[in-house]
Amino acid sequence: MAEIVGAYFTSHVPAIGGAIHRGAQEEPYWKPFFDGFPKVREWLAEVKPDVAVCFSNDHGLNFFLDKMPTFAVGAAEQYANADEGWGLPIYKTMQGHAPLSWHIIEQMVEDEFDPVTCQDMLVDHALSIPFELAWPGAEEWPVRVVPIGINTVQHPLPSAKRCLALGRSVHCALQSWQGAERIVIIGTGGLSHQLDGERAGFMNRDYDMFCLDNLTSDPDALTRDSIHEIVRLAGTQGVEVLNWIAARGALGPAAREIHRNYHIPISNTAAATLLLEAA
Ligand code: DHB
Ligand code: FE
Repeated sequence: MAEIVGAYFTSHVPAIGGAIHRGAQEEPYWKPFFDGFPKVREWLAEVKPDVAVCFSNDHGLNFFLDKMPTFAVGAAEQYANADEGWGLPIYKTMQGHAPLSWHIIEQMVEDEFDPVTCQDMLVDHALSIPFELAWPGAEEWPVRVVPIGINTVQHPLPSAKRCLALGRSVHCALQSWQGAERIVIIGTGGLSHQLDGERAGFMNRDYDMFCLDNLTSDPDALTRDSIHEIVRLAGTQGVEVLNWIAARGALGPAAREIHRNYHIPISNTAAATLLLEAA
């Protein structure tokens, strides 16, 4: 039977890609952020996942404001990376796991979610940056991927409660998957940040700590706030925490924290990294 080895959560700020490209990891601005990653890499080398089920949001690459699925699941054999305008290097193509994607989609629909199924999908910095942080310089990505996109961009957004339930549906699918894969759950984005408008640059350490402190043992606590309240607390792009909430649901009922890092600011973002194992 497949095994869920744990979950890896991280912010996905595009500027991180530029810092990696320039080799700036040891510079004072970047070091406190990159220092969170040796532990992630050691852990991944130890638990050796071969599949990653990844929750993130599309930033205008596959979907724009004219067409925006609430939930989208990749069901392709491959996912090419593309840059939606940050000037980032183009990273390695990711290999998919279409049979597992369809198995997850079937469970979601059975659980009365209605995802858009994407047999053709690109991945943006929301996956390429977390992958490059986890497996820097790898010749090939060591995992096949199932990308799950959540709308954190065009209102109305799905509630935190619904995203947690979506993740739990994915967990249920993984429980009944007959393969022998070692599966890591990945959630990217957040934590608090706002890129636009009067509050551009807004971050909220207290709310981020609330999220980090509760995600492991009481993820339902993160569903207390409405989407508008989360925007108020975390910023317009801080709602990317929805990706973390869904990923936490996919990990399973009980979890324990094995690593965390939190650093303000990276670009306009309160940057966080977290590793959880199923308890
Ligand atoms: C930034 C953060 C993001 O999550 C993103 O998708 C793009 C930019 C930033 O802080 O610069
Ligand atoms: Fe983002």
